[in-house]
Amino acid sequence: MNDYPDFLKYHYEVERYDFTRAGEASSAIKARLKKLGLDTHLVRRIAIASYESEINIIIHSYGGTLTLYISADKIMIIAKDSGPGIDDIEMAMKEGYTTASDAAREYGFGAGMGLPNIKRYCDQLEIESSKGQSTTITMTFAIKDMEDEIK
Ligand SMILES: Nc1ncnc2c1ncn2[C@@H]1O[C@H](COP(=O)(O)OP(=O)(O)O)[C@@H](O)[C@H]1O
Ligand SMILES: [Mg+2]
Repeated sequence: MNDYPDFLKYHYEVERYDFTRAGEASSAIKARLKKLGLDTHLVRRIAIASYESEINIIIHSYGGTLTLYISADKIMIIAKDSGPGIDDIEMAMKEGYTTASDAAREYGFGAGMGLPNIKRYCDQLEIESSKGQSTTITMTFAIKDMEDEIK
């Protein structure tokens, strides 16, 4: 993968079924973006999308990573895991569709709103996945006006 040399890059590990640490990576991302002085509404959108992708790695995958990329005009988050992949992406994007386990549901996850919310909150969404493969979700957020948003 192109390593995006013009971006600042931060990497976070996300472990499978690690319910007690769920949200740590996205909280760290949120804190870092807040420190940059980005618009609070933008930070909130990014925080929600990264939280949902983090939870999906925890409850649906074998484990993976979130990587935060920061450039002058955009923020990008790439959520990547090592499988088992999404059988039917179109179905997975539907509101309320979930294959979450009982264990995940006991922790309050599995409302089937993660991917629809990710789509709603990012400016550009790319999902690469197929059955038996790793899943890579690339979320891009535009920084509209540097003068206004980075103080
Ligand atoms: N990283 C992933 N790996 C495998 N399957 C996934 C992944 N992310 C999402 N899915 C599939 O897409 C479905 C919908 O995801 P989502 O909208 O976040 O709802 P939920 O996580 O509540 O099930 C999941 O139930 C699962 O079947
Ligand atoms: Mg989810």
